[in-house]
Amino acid sequence: MKILVTACNGQLGTDVTDYFKKDNEVIAYKDIELDITDEKKVMEEVLRVKPDVIINTAAITNVDGCETNVELAYKVNRDGAGIMAKAAKAVGARLIHISTDYVFDGNSKEPYRETDTPCPQSVYGSSKLAGEKEVLKYEKSYVLRTAWLYGPHGNNFVKTMLRLAAEKGEVGVVTDQVGNPTSTFELIRIIDVVLKKGEFGIYHATCNGVCSWNEFAREIFRLAGVNVKVNDLTTDQFPRPAKRPAYSNLSKEKLWKVCGYRPMDWHDALKEYFDYVKAENK
Ligand SMILES: NC(=O)c1ccc[n+]([C@@H]2O[C@H](COP(=O)([O-])OP(=O)(O)OC[C@H]3O[C@@H](n4cnc5c(N)ncnc54)[C@H](OP(=O)(O)O)[C@@H]3O)[C@@H](O)[C@H]2O)c1
Repeated sequence: MKILVTACNGQLGTDVTDYFKKDNEVIAYKDIELDITDEKKVMEEVLRVKPDVIINTAAITNVDGCETNVELAYKVNRDGAGIMAKAAKAVGARLIHISTDYVFDGNSKEPYRETDTPCPQSVYGSSKLAGEKEVLKYEKSYVLRTAWLYGPHGNNFVKTMLRLAAEKGEVGVVTDQVGNPTSTFELIRIIDVVLKKGEFGIYHATCNGVCSWNEFAREIFRLAGVNVKVNDLTTDQFPRPAKRPAYSNLSKEKLWKVCGYRPMDWHDALKEYFDYVKAENK
């Protein structure tokens, strides 16, 4: 397949590019090489390349920053997504678009399904939901909602925890927000499976298993062999500009039913990540 990747220098974009180039022709653009909000340039490039598949990893992902940069959040996360869908349609390419668990309010008591009604609590979540709607106007699109994403090439919770531990020797992490930590490696395997077996539409695309940020932090330190004091905090003790969902567990039943794929448990994915990082640093 000929695959066009946006934001190939982002956390997910870097790993997506590396993974798919093994067996495909990948045409990858850094954020400065292809601005997804520049409709003219996007159209030009997509018409020139004529990809079979477009994987859009570009987004404004600074959740707190979106609360003050509302215009930019919507420009990229909604309008940019819409432009990618329009360009995909122009050449009949299938479109993979990445969205987020933050489209939900987190008030549920059971795992969210793709059919549940979204109710975002933040500008980031709202702008991503608006992007989903733009993308889903194109009938050959897949929206993959992921969560708590980390990989070797980005700024993420795993790296923040290890940095704070080194700098301060102790960290405070909330116990009352739960979700599905997900590695870029596992998300990419889900993208691959969906491209091979999925019907078009929305998929919940995270690792299996659910934990709090606090439990996630403790497992990070355990696997990294870092001895640090982890203090239990509540969300009220750690206020942030953007509201986060308290319960953010996504059901992967559809992925199993449609694609026959059960994602890796988050503990195993985190171990795989650390094994990779250790091997790279040898
Ligand atoms: N990270 C998470 O925890 C998480 C959770 C759920 C869903 N997601 C979704 O997963 C996807 C990948 O996220 P990620 O973790 O890889 O984030 P990331 O590392 O921030 O990558 C996103 C990339 O998009 C670029 N970008 C921003 N505006 C652009 C534009 N107009 N045109 C082209 N590129 C642009 C960013 O550049 P700049 O850095 O210069 O802005 C960045 O390189 C996103 O759709 C995100 O919403 C992420």
